[in-house]
Amino acid sequence: MPHIMITGGAGYIGSHTCVQLLNAGYDIIIADNFSNSKPEVVEKIERISDKKVKLYEADMRDFEKVCEIFGENEIEAVIHFAGLKAVGESCENPLEYYHNNICGTIELLRAMKKYSCKKIVFSSSATVYGTDNPVPYIEHYPTSATNPYGYSKVAIERILIDLAAADSEWGVCLLRYFNPIGADESGLIGEEPSGIPNNLFPYIARVAIDKLSHLNVFGDDYDTPDGTGIRDYIHVVDLAKGHLNALDYVLKNTGTQAVNLGTGKGTSVLELVAAFEKASGKKIEYKIAPRRAGDIAVCYADTKKAKQILNWQAESDIDKMCTDGWRFISA
Ligand code: NAD
Ligand code: UFG
Repeated sequence: MPHIMITGGAGYIGSHTCVQLLNAGYDIIIADNFSNSKPEVVEKIERISDKKVKLYEADMRDFEKVCEIFGENEIEAVIHFAGLKAVGESCENPLEYYHNNICGTIELLRAMKKYSCKKIVFSSSATVYGTDNPVPYIEHYPTSATNPYGYSKVAIERILIDLAAADSEWGVCLLRYFNPIGADESGLIGEEPSGIPNNLFPYIARVAIDKLSHLNVFGDDYDTPDGTGIRDYIHVVDLAKGHLNALDYVLKNTGTQAVNLGTGKGTSVLELVAAFEKASGKKIEYKIAPRRAGDIAVCYADTKKAKQILNWQAESDIDKMCTDGWRFISA
C-alpha cells in the first residue's frame, strides 16, 4: 500500500499536517529524530485522527536508516519538514544548522532517488525573500538570506530546483510559509518551544500563563501604522491543509514550483497582542524595546499562485488563530 513519508512529522507544523493527511485518507509514515519534539505527539496525532501511524525514529543525515525506511515501505512521496529553525541559534552554531538542514536533505534525496521516489513537498520559508524585495512577496522574486537558517533554505531550494532540472521525473513543491500560529481545535497538539521562545506568538502565550513577566516589543518606530512590525500570520491548520494540495500537485506534475502559504494580510505586533487578549481574557503586559537585528518592517504574501496552481487559500482569521492557540496553551 503506498504511503506518504513525513519527515519531522512530530514537530509543530508536521503534526498538524499528519492529522490532515490521515483525515483525508492517506497512509503515512513519520520519520523524526525527536531533536525538537516528543514521541507522545505521535500518539496524540493517532488520537485526534483515530488512525494508526507508522513511526521511525530516524535522523535524515543517516543514509542507511533512511534507506531502511524506503526498503521496508512503498513510499510514493515525501513531505520534508525535518530541520532546525531557530534563527538566533543558527547564527551561534552555523555548522550544526547547515549540517542538519542541508546534509539531512541531501541524504534524504539520495535515498529517494535510489528507491525511485521522486515527489517531494519541502518546507521553505518567507525568509528566502530576504530584505530587499517589496511586499507583497511574489514567488518569482530573487531569493537571499540574512542568517545561516535562511541560507540553508535558499540552498535547499536551489538543490531541489537543480535536481528537477536534471531529471524530469521529479515533482517538487517549495512551500514558503509565512508566520504559522495557532493550534488544532482539539487542543492536543500545538507549538511547544523549549526554553524562552524567539517567536512572537509563543512569547505572548508565556506571558499569558505568567511564565514570563512581559513581552518586549522589538521597535515601535517602523514605517507602519502603529510603528510595530507587520507579519502575515497564518493558522497552522490552514497551512497544514495547503500541504494536501501541494502533495496532490506534485503527484500529478513534474518540475519545481515555489508557492507562498500565507493569508496575504498583515497584522502588527500590537494588533496580535490585542487579538490574543480578546481571545484569552488575559492582559498581556508589554514594553517597547529596541529593534531586533535582522528584522524587517513588513512581510506578507502574494497569494495568487497558491490559489491558481494549488487551488488553496487560507480561511481562518487572527481571532480564530488566537482562540485555538490559547486553547492548547491553557490546557
Ligand atoms: P519543529 O521543530 O516543531 O519541527 C521540526 C521537526 O523535525 C522536529 O520534530 C524535529 O525533531 C525534527 N528534526 C529536526 N532535524 C531532524 C533530522 N535531521 N532528522 C529527523 N528529524 C529532524 O518545527 P516546525 O515549526 O514544525 O517547522 C517545520 C519546518 O518548517 C522546518 O523545516 C522549518 O524550518 C520550516 N518553517 C517553519 C516556520 C515556523 O515559523 N514554524 C516558518 C517557515 C518555515
Ligand atoms: N517580536 C517582538 N517581540 C518578540 C518576538 C517578536 O516584538 O519577543 C516581533 C518581531 O520584531 C516581528 C514580529 O514580532 O516584528 C514577528 O516576529 P517572529 O519572531 O514571530 O517572526 P519573524 O517574522 O521574525 O520570523 C519567523 C521565523 C523565521 C521565518 C519567518 C518567515 O522565525 O524563521 O517567520 O516565515 F523565516
